[in-house]
Amino acid sequence: MARRVSLFEHLLRKILFKKDYVKVDGSLIALPDRRWCGPDFKNDQYYLQSTENEVKRLIDNLSCSKSSRILDVGCGQGRLAVGLTRVLKEVIYHGIDVDKDSVMWCQKYISKHYTNMEFSHLNVYNERYNKEGVIFNNDFLFELQENSFDIAYLYSVFSHMTEEDMRIYLQDLKRVLTNKGKIFFTTYVEEDVTNYEVNPKDYHVYSETPLHVVRYRKEYLLSILDECGYKLLNFTYATESLGQSAIYIEKK
Ligand SMILES: C[S@@+](CC[C@H](N)C(=O)[O-])C[C@H]1O[C@@H](n2cnc3c(N)ncnc32)[C@H](O)[C@@H]1O
Repeated sequence: MARRVSLFEHLLRKILFKKDYVKVDGSLIALPDRRWCGPDFKNDQYYLQSTENEVKRLIDNLSCSKSSRILDVGCGQGRLAVGLTRVLKEVIYHGIDVDKDSVMWCQKYISKHYTNMEFSHLNVYNERYNKEGVIFNNDFLFELQENSFDIAYLYSVFSHMTEEDMRIYLQDLKRVLTNKGKIFFTTYVEEDVTNYEVNPKDYHVYSETPLHVVRYRKEYLLSILDECGYKLLNFTYATESLGQSAIYIEKK
């Protein structure tokens, strides 16, 4: 006779064996409540399509190919990495994030199956994503060798970092990237606003949660990029999630 399962045991099993991924068209992706970047991404098909679109973006704008080495700073749940496994497959890829749970998920479901993909946790302070992290300053260096990546990708990351921290990252990415190395990033950009503002009031996205919306005046942002040693390749206004702009730059 089958043993009766108590309600407690039933709930415990549900918690212990709950799947923490969704399988869509052969790819494992994070559960909807763990995905970043806005409500559209909660839809499985939309999310999966976005993973491939991100790779196509890098191919079309930054000459990304199978031989490219890609650094994904603020990789989250490995959205770009999933796209790479579907579109280019063999690239060398390294994802970094301050959110330990995201990194652990990526290690469990992506790098376990793709040995060309690596993920590591970076324990630096971010008021929104990692309040326990170590405060960093101008001496900061990624634990990465110089000239080791062709492309750095930061989707919706500088939009949640202070200007000071963004400058520190841009400085060291110059060391990590190869000659003519390229960066793609997104953040909120407008004309006729103050140079730099966090959670600006009366903006189309408004929130009081820490570092939710980091916005730059376009000319000011371009001057930072110039100071940090980059030249602009392309800029598209408000084309990205929740109205962020896309910025493509190259080492001078
Ligand atoms: C809105 S999510 C975007 C995730 C991913 N790039 C994507 O497009 O799906 C922002 C990510 O940046 C990470 N992040 C925030 N500050 C960071 C920092 N200083 N260094 C690395 N990652 C950071 C967060 O933990 C989070 O995973």
